[in-house]
Amino acid sequence: MITIKSERELDLMRMAGKITALAHQGVAKNIRPGITTQELNDIAEDIIRSNDGIPAFLNYMGYPASACISVNEEVVHGIPSERRLQDGDIVSVDIGAIYKGYVGDAANTYPVGNVSEEAQRLIDVTKESFWQGVKHAKAGARLGDISHAIQTYVEKNGFAVVRDYVGHGIGAAMHESPSIPNYGVAGRGVVLRENMTLAIEPMVNQGTYEVKVLEDQWTAVTLDGKLSAHYEHTLLIKADTYEILTISD
Ligand code: MF3
Ligand code: CO
Repeated sequence: MITIKSERELDLMRMAGKITALAHQGVAKNIRPGITTQELNDIAEDIIRSNDGIPAFLNYMGYPASACISVNEEVVHGIPSERRLQDGDIVSVDIGAIYKGYVGDAANTYPVGNVSEEAQRLIDVTKESFWQGVKHAKAGARLGDISHAIQTYVEKNGFAVVRDYVGHGIGAAMHESPSIPNYGVAGRGVVLRENMTLAIEPMVNQGTYEVKVLEDQWTAVTLDGKLSAHYEHTLLIKADTYEILTISD
């Protein structure tokens, strides 16, 4: 069942989204060679808590941190550590915040110092694939319209969409129905309705779409060791458009 949110719930989700966005801003301005991924995690957690939020990922299915920080060939769910970012790395940061029981979820990928042209292109294509997908987000559209637009844009640019992880409905739980693959067929899938809330999150690989999970049981990496990028927002479906919830002005 796909939940339809009330206006009261949407206001709480806007607040959860705003806290998520503030945490991202704080992390983004601290990304530089030499900082550890644990330090970035702590910046995110401090901002979430000082805005009356709760880190949504911490202890979720046993996840041990507040942010997922995935470097280079790490696709998603990288666990913060004493690892220091280096010039030329790309780093994906995924953060969720709960406010009064409602969840915001967003991710972005950043260059560290000077990165290769190809790494920057991967970051740019991943982000743009999200915007190409959500162009189709409005009541009456089909989920497959979004999935198909993301896949088409990514593959046209010579990259691959990850299959093993997908976007999701979101609300009182971080993962609600439906699953939202970043690949699919236009005109297929569930019909979107006003006041559904969705987390759309393309994960894009430079080489093969195949991934594997490391022995830590969390970190997903590309099978070929090539780079991966991630971009995500929580959004609200409206009658004729959408509203991004994980932004702050
Ligand atoms: N954005 C990720 C997702 O939608 C965050 C989950 S990480 C976890 O699945 F650690 F909390 F599981
Ligand atoms: Co998500």
